Amino acid sequence: MARKKIALIGGGQIGGVLAQLIGARQLGDVVLFDIVEDLPQGKTLDIAEAAAVDNFDVSVTGTNNYKDIAGSDLVIITAGLPRKPGMSRDDLLSTNAKIMKNVAENVREFAPNAIVIIISNPLDAMVTLFKKVSGFPANRVMGQAGVLDSSRFATFIAWELGVSVKDVNAMVLGGHGDTMVPLIRYANVNGIPVMEMLERKYKDKTKAKEVMTAMVERTKMAGGEVVKLLKTGSAFYSPASSATAMAESILLDEKRLLPTCALLNGEFGVNGYYAGVPAVLGANGVERVVELSLDAEEQSLFDNSVNAVKKLVEDMARLGF
Ligand code: APR
Repeated sequence: MARKKIALIGGGQIGGVLAQLIGARQLGDVVLFDIVEDLPQGKTLDIAEAAAVDNFDVSVTGTNNYKDIAGSDLVIITAGLPRKPGMSRDDLLSTNAKIMKNVAENVREFAPNAIVIIISNPLDAMVTLFKKVSGFPANRVMGQAGVLDSSRFATFIAWELGVSVKDVNAMVLGGHGDTMVPLIRYANVNGIPVMEMLERKYKDKTKAKEVMTAMVERTKMAGGEVVKLLKTGSAFYSPASSATAMAESILLDEKRLLPTCALLNGEFGVNGYYAGVPAVLGANGVERVVELSLDAEEQSLFDNSVNAVKKLVEDMARLGF
C-alpha cells in the first residue's frame, strides 16, 4: 500500500506540533506549507533530524510552494492569525477569511481529491468558507473543535473526581465559540453518570450542580484561559493532538465517533450550516453524522449555539466572502 501524504497548511505553532505528531506516528509523508520563507523548511528539518531517535522513516519536509502538496490524501489547515489576550475567536473573522479564501483556492487547484480538516478560527465560519470556495463535497470538509473542547471537559471532570481521564467520556457539541454546549447528561466515567458521582461526592444535589456548572463554564472559556496565560498566541499542543486523532481515524479508516464540525442536512433540526456534532470519521471523511436525543434545554442551548454560527456566516457574507 502506498504511503499516505498529508499536507499541513500553516507552519506556525499548531502546524509545527502537527508535523511532529503525524511524523512520529508514521501516518504518512508530511509536507508543511507556510508563506513565510524558510520557516516550514527549518521546522521540518528540525523534526526530521529526530527521526533516528523517534524511529520514524516517513518524510517530513517544508515548502513555500503549493505545487508540493500535489497528491495529498489529507490536508490540515491552521493558516491564519491566533487570538491575543482579550480577543474572541470571532474577532479574527476578516483577517482569517482572506487567508482561508486563498488557501482554499490553492488546495482546490493542487490537492483536489484531499479530505480537509480545518483548525483556523473562527472555526465554523472558516469551514463554511473553505467548503464554498473549494466546492468539495461535504464529507471531505470538516473542522476540528469538538475533540479539543471535549478533551478539555473530560480533563476537568477527571481532576474533579480523582479518576483517570482515560475512563471519562464527555462530549461538547455546537459551534466553537462561547456558546458551545458541553453535554452534562451524557458525561460519564466508564458508564457511570458524572452527575451521580458528583452527588455521591458532595452528598448535596445543589453543590454537585454548582461544581458541574463551574466545569462547563471553564470548558467554554478554556481557550481564552490559555490565551491569557500565553499572552502571545493561543493553545497549540492540544489542538494539534485533537486534529491528529481525527487524521488517524480517517487515514486508518478507524471509524471513530468523534465530535466534528460537519455540515448538517436536517440533523439536529439544522439545514445547511456547519456545527459540532458526533460523526463517524473514516476513509471517506465524515461518513455519517450521528444524532442523539437532546432534551428541551439541551436543544435550546444547541440552537442558540447554531444561531451564533449563522450570525458569523452572515457577518462573513457582509464582508464579501
Ligand atoms: N497561507 C498560508 N499560511 C499562512 C497564511 C497564508 N495566506 N497567512 C498566514 N499563514 C501562516 C503564518 O505564517 C503562521 O506561520 O499561518 C501560521 C499560523 O501560525 P500561528 O500564528 O503560530 O498560529 P497557531 O497557533 O498555529 O494557530 C493557527 O488555528 O486555533 C487556530 O485561532 C488559531 O486561527 C488560528 C490558527
